[in-house]
Amino acid sequence: MGIEGFEDAGVYRISEELAIVQTVDFFTPVVDDPYDFGRIAAANALSDIYAMGAVPKTAMNIVCFSPKAFDIKILKEILKGGADKVREAGASLMGGHSVDDEEIKYGLSVTGFVHPEKIVRNEGARPGDVLIITKPLGTGILNTGIKADMVEAGAVRSLIEVMATLNDRGAEAMRAVNTHAATDVTGFGLAGHLCEMIKESIGVKLFAEEVPYFKEAVELASSGFVPGGLYRNRDFYKRCVAGTASTFFTDILFDPQTSGGLLIAIGKEDLPAFRKAASGNGTTFWVIGEFVEEPKGKIVL
Ligand code: CO
Ligand code: CO
Repeated sequence: MGIEGFEDAGVYRISEELAIVQTVDFFTPVVDDPYDFGRIAAANALSDIYAMGAVPKTAMNIVCFSPKAFDIKILKEILKGGADKVREAGASLMGGHSVDDEEIKYGLSVTGFVHPEKIVRNEGARPGDVLIITKPLGTGILNTGIKADMVEAGAVRSLIEVMATLNDRGAEAMRAVNTHAATDVTGFGLAGHLCEMIKESIGVKLFAEEVPYFKEAVELASSGFVPGGLYRNRDFYKRCVAGTASTFFTDILFDPQTSGGLLIAIGKEDLPAFRKAASGNGTTFWVIGEFVEEPKGKIVL
């Protein structure tokens, strides 16, 4: 399985019982603290493995860093943050590669295992399925506000913890039931990733009041602290959206996420079992919509 359908990762079948899932992701710092940046970048890279229904097994560091431009201690902290997340995920760090670059970048290449029949793709949701999300939205807006020093320390802390949280438990809850489709919310925002889930074959009705977000995002967005990526997402994905919503909800819909949660499609009848698995392992989740037969290819507000 390759990149045709905007899947989160590539899959290669080794035997009847085993397939490997491979992905790579790295980016420039999203927070000031290098240790936190390492944790967030690693959680983000590991997330695509979880979104495919797989379990991460090995990871390799990808590093762009200039020891001439920055204190090497910064790199050590970034790598420590990444290594701690890889360990938390139960995977092994196998080494990596670095390039001398004055713009710091960090991430991971990750390999996971999955049974070939248990692969979860981003398409496959059926009419009547519920749509679940496992992290609040608005990280792009908050990160923009943080750069302008507009967010108080407590809110910065909770944002960092959400971005650094692995999607491992959400994925475990998802594997406990018959999951029809899943993906994770990252740079294309809720609208973009939902658009890839429905393609032209199904629609989805969003319950706007149920969509979780960081409460600080409301004031930041109304004061104009929105990332450029939000407008790019809106221009590209507004074709998938039908109906109207408040300006704020539209911002949240298109806000690019860093290390966002999982989007999961399961049958309504599986919701109690999902809820049980999620409360058993401490997964937070919200039911934010329902897949519908018509209109195909549309996110209905
Ligand atoms: Co993804
Ligand atoms: Co990715």
